[in-house]
Amino acid sequence: MLMERLIMGDVQETTGNEETSHIPVMLNEVIKYLDPKPGNIVVDGTLGLGGHAEVILKLIGSKGRLIGIDRDAQALAMASKNLSAYQDQCDFIHENYSNIDKVLAKLNIRHVDRVLLDLGLSSFQLNDPQRGFSFRAEGPLDMRMDQDSYISAFDLVNSLSEREISTILKDFGQERWHHRIARYVVQSRLKKPIETTKELSDIVLRAMPRQSRREKIHPATRAFQAFRIAVNRELEGLEEALEKCLDALKVGGRIAVVAFHSLEDRVVKQKFRKWSQSGELDLIVKKPLRPSEGEARFNPRARSARLRIAERI
Ligand SMILES: C[S@@+](CC[C@H](N)C(=O)[O-])C[C@H]1O[C@@H](n2cnc3c(N)ncnc32)[C@H](O)[C@@H]1O
Repeated sequence: MLMERLIMGDVQETTGNEETSHIPVMLNEVIKYLDPKPGNIVVDGTLGLGGHAEVILKLIGSKGRLIGIDRDAQALAMASKNLSAYQDQCDFIHENYSNIDKVLAKLNIRHVDRVLLDLGLSSFQLNDPQRGFSFRAEGPLDMRMDQDSYISAFDLVNSLSEREISTILKDFGQERWHHRIARYVVQSRLKKPIETTKELSDIVLRAMPRQSRREKIHPATRAFQAFRIAVNRELEGLEEALEKCLDALKVGGRIAVVAFHSLEDRVVKQKFRKWSQSGELDLIVKKPLRPSEGEARFNPRARSARLRIAERI
């Protein structure tokens, strides 16, 4: 109960300002099962705006240390502001979490007590039209989480072959109309490059048969997810990261992963299952935890979340 109040208090504090806010997903469950203890060294590999991290910092106390990693420099700058009260205990690292081994080596840390990966995007990234993640607002076709990286959605959409685009849509978006959409994309860019989120979303819509445009979700949802995963190489990075996290965890250390679509959850599920069978991990929850009805109503972003937690043995 005390924990619950502490956590709800933090949610309110960190959601005051629309521009720099992100409601941490499944916060109570993450904290309950990750169970950070005073003095722990914790890696938050997806620091975002520091919502989960702030509660973790309260629990690890002044002797604890938080290594906050994010590949988005803008997120890191905001997190460092949000967590300014804990500056002395935090390292803010602009990196891909798949380089967790290099990050820890640089900090001279061999093993850590806890790792959190809360995958996907922060609300501020999704809501900023200039970042190009959303089909709801017109913006450049960007979708890079790390703005220093070279390849954007514009590059993929305008230079890959029809077959490559079709494969991305099928593999990363599970998009039934992948052939048709890829054909429309390639035909459309013959006239002029596809430059904005609105242009891409309109092409996806035109490519779909009329009856498929009447789904509950926006018809461009899967295509945008697919290009975003491809631009940021999300699934390859996750596999590599999980292997390195396992190496980094102390015996008795815990890892929590929040996934937002079945493709990334499948990667986590398969890795955890393999390591549980080989006696390297103990599954703290056998099936992924889902957000409560209340949370899903209050924060629609949480609806698709699945949380898996395991302990190093
Ligand atoms: C869902 S948000 C995390 C929100 C955070 N837990 C909070 O409460 O504020 C995911 C964050 O992870 C970052 N991210 C995604 N993939 C990453 C990767 N491979 N390496 C580092 N950061 C990544 C994104 O830039 C984003 O800021």
